[in-house]
Amino acid sequence: MAGIPDLDLNSGATIPQLGFGTWQIPPDEAEAAVAEALRLGYRSIDTAAAYGNEREVGAAIAGSGIPRDEVFVTTKLWNTDHGTNEARAALEGSLGRLGLDRVDLYLIHWPVPSNDRYVETWQAMEGLRDEGLVTSIGVSNFNVEHLDRLADETGTVPAVNQVEVHPYLQQEALRRANADRGILTEDWSPLAEGQPFDEGVVKDAAEAHSKSPAQVILRWHLQLGSIVIPKSVTPERIAENIEVFDFALSGEEMNAIAELDRGERTGPDPATFVAP
Ligand SMILES: NC(=O)c1ccc[n+]([C@@H]2O[C@H](COP(=O)([O-])OP(=O)(O)OC[C@H]3O[C@@H](n4cnc5c(N)ncnc54)[C@H](OP(=O)(O)O)[C@@H]3O)[C@@H](O)[C@H]2O)c1
Repeated sequence: MAGIPDLDLNSGATIPQLGFGTWQIPPDEAEAAVAEALRLGYRSIDTAAAYGNEREVGAAIAGSGIPRDEVFVTTKLWNTDHGTNEARAALEGSLGRLGLDRVDLYLIHWPVPSNDRYVETWQAMEGLRDEGLVTSIGVSNFNVEHLDRLADETGTVPAVNQVEVHPYLQQEALRRANADRGILTEDWSPLAEGQPFDEGVVKDAAEAHSKSPAQVILRWHLQLGSIVIPKSVTPERIAENIEVFDFALSGEEMNAIAELDRGERTGPDPATFVAP
């Protein structure tokens, strides 16, 4: 297995460029899936309070025998936990379920602009970072205007903006805005529910490199410079998704995939999404 590169975060820490996503992994499958990912060489796990599987993610990490400082753990603050006291309670809850005294990255899951509490929440997260409960803080599903309010009203630029990116929603402007601000883009739903697997340009590249369509798409994310966090509960796919460091797409192949963009979301719009 080829090594997963580390990327530098603006906090001074580093993050593996490829991690393991856990959304929609039910609790009774999560420990086995995360354990398999760690066994195969993944060293970054993405979970969230809202996923309902932090306890099982923590159990898999503890059971892996891998030293704590060799596994990068991300979790997220849910929409109903915006606010100063709420943020502390939310993080304490996540740490308790994970069985950890610190997470590597804590993200505001959605900005929920209609509540207008994300700046206050961010200031609370700065405090939690200063206490050592979190190494780096970041955001998810933030548009440029939300990022700029954080920069204008607080002293900390997010380390990461985790947003929906895949061949049908390439988010070039938002990725550039993140980069201009020193924020790494982390691509969620990178495989877009498998829909782009049948695209001719993806199939052609897969054949040319003797790789699967999923591997071609993950490679495209990596060559954009993004962090990418594919999810699978299928051992063969968990293995396949990490075998993406032994080939490179050509400039022509990257350009052909760029042509697939159609601005199509699989998930909610961050400008309007409220807590369910
Ligand atoms: N911040 C946010 O708001 C947000 C939102 C969504 C997701 N996320 C994060 O991003 C992670 C990834 O996104 P996602 O889970 O939505 O989607 P994804 O990783 O793009 O795709 C997962 C789906 O693709 C299948 N799959 C995985 N590898 C495959 C392969 N090699 N070949 C064929 N099919 C494959 C999986 O099936 P099986 O599992 O059945 O194998 C599953 O149905 C999440 O798990 C979560 O950690 C964050």
